[in-house]
Amino acid sequence: MFHELSMAPPDAILGLTEAFKKDPRPGKINLGAGVYQNDQGQTRVFSSVKKAEAALLKEETTKNYLPIHGSEGYAAAVQELLFGEGREAVASGRIATAHAPGGTAALRVAADFLKKVGQRERIWVSDPTWANHPQVFAAAGLQVSTYPYYDAATKGLDFGRMLQAIQEIPAGDVILLHGCCHNPTGVDPALDQWKRIAEAVWARGVFPLIDFAYQGLGDGLEEDAAGVRLFAAPGREALIANSFSKNFGLYRERVGGLTVLGATSEDAQKAFSHVKTTIRANYSNPPSHGGAIVETILKDTQLKAEWQGEVTAIRDRIRQMRRLFVETLKAKGAKGDFSFIARQKGMFSFSGLGKEQVDALRERHAIYIVGGGRINVAGMTRANMEPLCQAIAGVMGKS
Ligand code: LMR
Repeated sequence: MFHELSMAPPDAILGLTEAFKKDPRPGKINLGAGVYQNDQGQTRVFSSVKKAEAALLKEETTKNYLPIHGSEGYAAAVQELLFGEGREAVASGRIATAHAPGGTAALRVAADFLKKVGQRERIWVSDPTWANHPQVFAAAGLQVSTYPYYDAATKGLDFGRMLQAIQEIPAGDVILLHGCCHNPTGVDPALDQWKRIAEAVWARGVFPLIDFAYQGLGDGLEEDAAGVRLFAAPGREALIANSFSKNFGLYRERVGGLTVLGATSEDAQKAFSHVKTTIRANYSNPPSHGGAIVETILKDTQLKAEWQGEVTAIRDRIRQMRRLFVETLKAKGAKGDFSFIARQKGMFSFSGLGKEQVDALRERHAIYIVGGGRINVAGMTRANMEPLCQAIAGVMGKS
C-alpha cells in the first residue's frame, strides 16, 4: 500500500523549520514558525517555568492518569486568565475547560464536537488564516469557507466587508475568530469593532469558535482578552481554544485548553460531557507536565508575577524589533512605506512580500519566511536585522 503513495507536501510552517535545520549556509535566518527568540536568537525556557518544574519534580508523587478533561485546578487557572477573576460566566458555573495538548488539539476536539455532536457542516475562517486551520477543520469533516478580513491596500482590517460577510453566513454555521494577534496578519479588530462582530454573530445565529493563542503578546494579558470576553456575555454560547505555547514558551509540552461557555450551567455540563467523549476518542486524556507547570505558576502569586514580567519583556522586545525593522528597511532603501508593520500586533508581520520574493529570500539569502509573506518578528535580533533588511530591500526593489 505504501508503495503506491506519493509524498505529502511539507507543512507550510513547520516544514520550513525542517528545511532551515538542513540548510548548511552560515548566517541563515529563520523567521518561519511562530517561536519567540531572544536577542541572542535563543528560545529559552522561562525562569518562572524552570522554578515551577523544580517544585513539581520535588512534589509530584504519581504518574497516574489525569481525568479525561485534565485537572480541576488547571481548568480554574485557565478560566481566570481568559475571563478575569469573578466573571459572571465563572461565578454562574456555565463554563467548563478541558486541558488539551496544545491549541491545535483544542481546535480539533472543538471541530469534532461541532461536526459530530453539534451537527455543524461548515466553518468560516478569515482570509487569510493560520495555514493549519483549514486542514484541522477538514480532518474533522467540516467544510471550510472564508470571510474577507485583510485589506491589502490599507494593510489593515477590511472591517466593512468582514461584517457584511458575517451577516450573510447561514444560521447554524460556525465562525472561527482569532482572539488577538491575528495569525498571519497581526491585524486585530478594535474593541468597538469586536462588539459589532459579536452582535452580528449572535444576530445570525452563527456559532463562535475562538482561537486564542497569543494572549499577552499584543497589548497585554488583560487587554488582549477584551474581544474574547465579549463572547462570554450572559446567556451566550461559545467555544474557546487557547494555547500556552507562546505566552509560557511551552511549545513542545503541548499545553492549551478547550473552554465551553453555555447559556446555562446545565447546558455547559451537557456540552462538556460530549467534549469529554470526543477527547477520549482522540487522545484519551491529556499529558500532565505542561498543564501542571501552568497551574503551578498561575496559583502562586510570586511565580505569577514573575511570569507576567517575562510576558511583558517578550512583548516589549517584539515591539522594539517592529520599530527597528521599519527603520532599517527604510535605511536600506526598501521600496514602499512600512510603517504599518509597527501597528501590527503579536509575533507576526504580514509583509506584503509575494511568492517569488519569499522564494528568492530563501534561495539567495537563506532567509526563511512563510509563503504568503508572513514574517516572525519574534525571530528578529539586532544582529540579523541589517542582513535581513538588506536582503528584503534587494528582492523588493529599492525606492
Ligand atoms: C505558527 O503559526 O507559526 C505557530 O502557530 C506554529 C505552528 O504550529 O504553526
